[in-house]
Amino acid sequence: MSSDLKTAPVQAIVLAAGASSRFKSDRTKMAEKICGREMILYPTAVLASLEIPILMVVGYQRGLVEEIVKKEFNHTVTFIHQVEQLGTGHAIKCTRSAWKSDHILVMNGDMPLVTPEIIEKLYKKHTNSDAAISFVTAHHCDPNAMYGRVIQADNNIQIIEAKELDGNLEEHCCINAGIYLIKRSFLENFIDSLEVNKAGKEWYITDLVKIASDNNLKVETVTAAYDKIRGVNDFKELWAVEQIKKSEIIQYWMAHGVRFTIAHNVHIDWDVTIGKGSTIESGVQLTEGTKIGCDVVVGAFSSLNNCVVGDRTLIKTHTVIDDSLIKSDCKVGPFAFIHGNSSIENEAVIGSFVEVNRSTLGERSKSRHLSYLGDTEVGKGVILGAGLITCNYNGSTKNKTIIKSNAFIGGNNTLVAPVTINEWAMTAAGSTITEDVPTNALAIARERQVNKEGYAKTVREKNQKTEKSVSDEPHQFVAAIKLDVSYDQVG
Ligand code: UD1
Ligand code: MG
Repeated sequence: MSSDLKTAPVQAIVLAAGASSRFKSDRTKMAEKICGREMILYPTAVLASLEIPILMVVGYQRGLVEEIVKKEFNHTVTFIHQVEQLGTGHAIKCTRSAWKSDHILVMNGDMPLVTPEIIEKLYKKHTNSDAAISFVTAHHCDPNAMYGRVIQADNNIQIIEAKELDGNLEEHCCINAGIYLIKRSFLENFIDSLEVNKAGKEWYITDLVKIASDNNLKVETVTAAYDKIRGVNDFKELWAVEQIKKSEIIQYWMAHGVRFTIAHNVHIDWDVTIGKGSTIESGVQLTEGTKIGCDVVVGAFSSLNNCVVGDRTLIKTHTVIDDSLIKSDCKVGPFAFIHGNSSIENEAVIGSFVEVNRSTLGERSKSRHLSYLGDTEVGKGVILGAGLITCNYNGSTKNKTIIKSNAFIGGNNTLVAPVTINEWAMTAAGSTITEDVPTNALAIARERQVNKEGYAKTVREKNQKTEKSVSDEPHQFVAAIKLDVSYDQVG
């Protein structure tokens, strides 16, 4: 963005010290996440994008707030401690020794939808008009919304908090957004004129507007859309803001070639990326920096958390993938669970009810049905039969299973780790493999089958007899019939 602000004599103060009491939880609202990012990081990111130096007032749970901010903006933000939280006016007073620039931009930390354009518009108006103080307003008529109301009469302008305003709130639809640009000289001269509020508990920054107006100094306002300046003071407002943020994110990806079949129940975090030509179906959740390639389909109700997915991969419905890499042209799901830094290479297939944990599956390898792969390295072109279980845990340690390229594992196998199945080896269905299988060998590790000639007929006849006697007793279930012959008795 081309902005005059980058070189302008402006410094910003973000207010983030408040006790968040309306949340009725035991942590600062600054740490509440909106589309995967803590609330305080949104206004901070806007200021950082404008390259404005940032001071942040912290107090309540300041250790947590500082830790969150430093995670993304390590050297950009300077913190100032407001020891007692005595209101927004008091918070500004605490920063007095740090005022250096000609203009001080003050911004609430609880406005995550704010944009750089609003700040630029405010700066232009403020400097062009040479105002002492300028601030952002919006139109909002809800009498239950506890914003400060902008009251103008007889050439005087002031902000009165909703809870302190006598009269009908519905008639006062001009609200204070919580962003102010103030001449440093005005601040220095008048900050001590702030008086405690009616309840005698807080000093309000908003009173600076009346002070300027009363002293015949210029006050300017610029308007912004309410949905860009909403404040967040409780869980209801947090929810409302997150709906808007989600909608903004989805519309952004729609504008970049991504199709959403049913968008309203999709959740996408702020740092997710999606390639063009991809389709995101109903109820999908894409979180924590997940990167989706081009022409990918993410099936309904799938959830991908901190994942990378390559181009043209098909993820079918109800699949969960955490912290893993799925490369290109793969097929995954339905009902697959891949996690623990697993890696699924190009053209591999993970089918239904397959769990993959801390494992890699090589190119073109397939595990289509009902399996558990834990701590397993699978080479290229391997077929893993249905019902494969890798026994990676012996009760105290985790052990590796290695299945080399072009091996074939029969259905319903149990591979007891540590064990290696070498290239082109095969294992028979139903085997429990406890020893390494050499290249090209066929391992059979199961009971040999015994066929008892004609005995099926004998069993059926015995069953029929039992069924008859049971069906005479209506309260017993036929399914409960037990064979009165065990294999030991046979032959
Ligand atoms: C404030 C404004 C209100 C405006 C609204 C916009 C005041 C008195 N009221 O009300 O006119 O319509 O924002 O959303 O300013 N904070 C501190 N230290 C404190 C108290 C608060 O740093 O001692 C911080 C909070 O963490 C928050 C910001 O200041 O980020 C605003 O405080 P908050 O309690 O949310 O004020 P509102 O009641 O929303
Ligand atoms: Mg607020």
